[in-house]
Amino acid sequence: MAIPTRPLAATPHNDQLVKADKAHYMHGYHMFDEHAEQGALNIQAGDGAYIHDTQGNRFLDAVGGMWCTNIGLGREEMALAIADQVRQLAYSNPFSDMANPKAIELCQKLASLAPGDLDHVFLTTGGSTAVDTAYRLIQYYQNCRGKPHKKHVIARYNAYHGSTCLTMSIGNKAADRVPEFDYAHELIHHVSNPNFYRAGDDMDEAEFLDFLVAEFEDKILSLGADNVAAFFAEPIMGSGGVIIPPTGYFQRMWQVCQTYDILFVADEVVTSFGRLGTFFASEALFGVTPDIITTAKGLTSAYLPLGACIFSERIWKVIAEPGKGRCFTHGFTYSGHPVCCVAALKNIEIIERENLLAHVNDVGGYLEQRLQTLAALPLVGQVRCMKLMACVEFVANKQTKAVFPDAVNIGERIHVRAQAKGLLVRPIMHLNVMSPPLIITHAQVDEIVDTLRSCILEAAQELTEQGLYHGQ
Ligand SMILES: Cc1ncc(COP(=O)(O)O)c(C=O)c1O
Repeated sequence: MAIPTRPLAATPHNDQLVKADKAHYMHGYHMFDEHAEQGALNIQAGDGAYIHDTQGNRFLDAVGGMWCTNIGLGREEMALAIADQVRQLAYSNPFSDMANPKAIELCQKLASLAPGDLDHVFLTTGGSTAVDTAYRLIQYYQNCRGKPHKKHVIARYNAYHGSTCLTMSIGNKAADRVPEFDYAHELIHHVSNPNFYRAGDDMDEAEFLDFLVAEFEDKILSLGADNVAAFFAEPIMGSGGVIIPPTGYFQRMWQVCQTYDILFVADEVVTSFGRLGTFFASEALFGVTPDIITTAKGLTSAYLPLGACIFSERIWKVIAEPGKGRCFTHGFTYSGHPVCCVAALKNIEIIERENLLAHVNDVGGYLEQRLQTLAALPLVGQVRCMKLMACVEFVANKQTKAVFPDAVNIGERIHVRAQAKGLLVRPIMHLNVMSPPLIITHAQVDEIVDTLRSCILEAAQELTEQGLYHGQ
């Protein structure tokens, strides 16, 4: 893979692009006022862990796109595999009695990589549609087994599960719950997330864990266990701020699920395909064998859009009971798209051939160790990192953990400074979140941490001069 040593030339018509972007392109999470004023960072090329904008600037992308450019950008062999498949078969109908060899091969591979008896795969167009599919599968399963009332689901506050109407309602990030949108409430419930840093000082970690488990059980009992179908959880909450749960949290939550016949849905859209040094994290790292796993992003390393809902033999046996004449009336035009499936197969081949999981276990440990050195800096409340999921949380006061007022825009301040120095980190409120490609090197980790350090120190100085920070 060729990593350019110098920036690409600026695109000559950059001004027209900015104008057309503002006039016609509504982005995901479009911020109307800011976009109308500042436009967007317009990316025209990528190699490995670097991306290049249309003005000739190069950035080390510590965000990995959106937690997704796992094997790195610009792989020639991926381009060739995709091109070959386009020439051979660019599309085939995936419904009912039609299939294609690449979709079959991918489902077989996913079944072999997934834990336990998660042997059945429904291919989707991305993460949101994978989680949506999980929800519809759960409804179908409960109706098939004669439990039409067992439809309520429980998720966690501050989770993100996607942007369809349903998945946005299963997730519940305060910043996403804007008054202009409506959310489904009837069958969807939320409990606390396992963020010990924000748990309050009156509990130690063991007490916090007991509280979380008791709260979950109380919620089930208050809804009636016969009415609760499933629990949805990201093994590590991603955009909710890289929340790493206390040891034993998932095993205990899973035990509660098993006690009350509640399906455990692990949303591994971020945590799968190497980000945590494993293909799937739930069983390998958290000791839970889920009933359903949803995945996307790193599944193709974002070369093409694809997601999957992988589920257990136990569910399959119920829904596919012979002789019932059932039809699973759910499907997407692009489920099992042969070109996307080829991208996923090539991606998995590269992860295996280049031993990227072992590399992540090594370089991820180094990232964690280096990032923790930022914890002593002003503004830094906590550094959270597990392998290649990382977050720096900023506070106005380290003792009280008070956050800055929204207007200070602390995450954005650091991000803007980092961008000016050629590093991309993702600002989410008072956080900077990172998820670099799996191919990141030790030298690039040093670059991330050293750049962040100088940005944090500069921001602290600026806030002090503006009378907004008092060095606490
Ligand atoms: C945990 C989780 N689930 C689901 C999604 C939605 O995936 P997509 O954006 O591919 O629809 C995301 C996206 O960030 C995610 O982080």
